[in-house]
Amino acid sequence: MRPFPDEPKLVRVVSRRQIQAAVRRLAGELDRDYAGSEPLLVGGLRGAFIFLADLVRAMRTPVTIEFMRASSYDTGTLTSGRPRILTGLPRGGARGRHVVLVDDIVDTGLTTQASLRYLGRARPASVRVCALLDKPARRLVPVAIDYLGLTVPDRFLVGYGLDMDGRHRQLPEIYAVEQS
Ligand code: PRP
Repeated sequence: MRPFPDEPKLVRVVSRRQIQAAVRRLAGELDRDYAGSEPLLVGGLRGAFIFLADLVRAMRTPVTIEFMRASSYDTGTLTSGRPRILTGLPRGGARGRHVVLVDDIVDTGLTTQASLRYLGRARPASVRVCALLDKPARRLVPVAIDYLGLTVPDRFLVGYGLDMDGRHRQLPEIYAVEQS
């Protein structure tokens, strides 16, 4: 697939069927573990918006939903710091709640680490991580993913919420950007 001439070719690496199967399995695991507790699902903006939308519609357990946003960083600043929380939760919003941080991908782990630090300060009853994709080859800090969809290779991925310069998030499947 090549959305426009002169643009990098996109090679499908995760099909719609694989995504649906992963989402259904994760929803089932969350239903099993959170039965009767109405967890708070916190989506990481912006990439998680599609995954979270599909995930909650595949769940039977009642949930409430919030979003948070950590700053992006460029590779040049990786050693100097970690993402900052640009948009957090309403004050007291996670207190006493069973929180599930939902993100599209864990790459270096820095975003998840920063988000977990932030959520931990909000006095939740518990916090777990649910990620559709894990790219372990890029990990810089250890992150425990409690609910994982698929492990992916170390390629630049777009689609199903993942972007390249803000584009391609809308693609229903996940593609690798082929560098020519
Ligand atoms: C992406 C993705 C994860 C994060 C993972 O977000 O949605 O939140 O990167 O990368 P990491 O493990 O290396 O921290 P990004 O910061 O690009 O913003 P976006 O969600 O708006 O695309």
